[in-house]
Amino acid sequence: MQTILVAGGAGYIGSHMVKILLANGYQVVTLDNLSAGYRDAVLGGDFVQRDLADKAGLDALFQRYDFAAVMHFASSIQVGESVINPALYYRNNVSNTLNLLETMQQHGVKRFIFSSSAATFGEPQYVPLDENHPQQPINPYGWTKWMVEQILRDFDFAHQFKAVCLRYFNAAGADLEGQLGERHNPETHLIPLVLQAALGQRSHITVFGQDYPTPDGTCVRDYIHIVDLCQAHLLALQHLLNGGDSRAYNLGNGTGFSVKQVIDMAQQITGMNIPVVYGQRREGDPARLVADATWAKQQLGWQPRYADLATIIQHAWQWHRKH
Ligand code: UFG
Repeated sequence: MQTILVAGGAGYIGSHMVKILLANGYQVVTLDNLSAGYRDAVLGGDFVQRDLADKAGLDALFQRYDFAAVMHFASSIQVGESVINPALYYRNNVSNTLNLLETMQQHGVKRFIFSSSAATFGEPQYVPLDENHPQQPINPYGWTKWMVEQILRDFDFAHQFKAVCLRYFNAAGADLEGQLGERHNPETHLIPLVLQAALGQRSHITVFGQDYPTPDGTCVRDYIHIVDLCQAHLLALQHLLNGGDSRAYNLGNGTGFSVKQVIDMAQQITGMNIPVVYGQRREGDPARLVADATWAKQQLGWQPRYADLATIIQHAWQWHRKH
């Protein structure tokens, strides 16, 4: 049985990944400082509460276990916060990731799956965005992800370190069995906020800007089901465990939905009235982000199963109603 270290395994995406790894016969060790994750979201395997800043702690962890690969989900994720407090983002997302990579290097663990982001592309020059699109981030969050991608290229050159960088577009939805879902505090993502408004936990949803150059004036995003996203990670892991080389893939469904379309669909699915307030644009939001995921499909054999937005919102709704 191969043991996989999941850094950030108590968070939204990481916790779904831990569950799927266990279901696929891997042994899992979750490493999380619980700054944003939840201990009860880790459904199995070993759990270690530790910070990636703690290099001695990381060293001890790698002495205790023989990891076949590392999946790294532990990072700060708010674009707006990264603009206000860049040091936090460079420290947490770059410097702490370097601690993890150096520790891996010292212990001869050389397979790494990295949670990168569409934010590494910056303002799109064309959509859908394929992997050849220039990476020119427009905020510190995007830069931190871009920098780690660059570090990984250098580690591959210097140490034959093999990494797959997965650039997520908008992860959404929830576990099919209803055990896990999206739980951020504070919540900043559109779909959970809309569903909280449907439940009356919020008075309304504010639409950030309606003067974008899009069909209805609101921003267009490519929403990808969390289970499909984790499935891509599993394929990337298998690729590396089979001796595959370093890669980077964009992960989305290739279809964009506007903020208004998301709210309308949530209204239909929940049957609830969702009060909407129109506000100012949010700093750093590109008008359209849509992925071209052809490479992931062709090279990893990735086949999204829950690509339609209605299913994504339905699954998110099932979870939000219960929690
Ligand atoms: N939005 C609103 N009102 C809200 C929240 C969001 O109108 O209350 C809009 C945003 O302006 C955006 C869309 O809904 O147009 C989606 O916003 P999210 O915050 O849900 O997601 P983002 O597209 O901003 O962010 C996602 C990831 C980030 C990542 C980014 C990459 O969550 O971690 O994609 O571009 F950095």
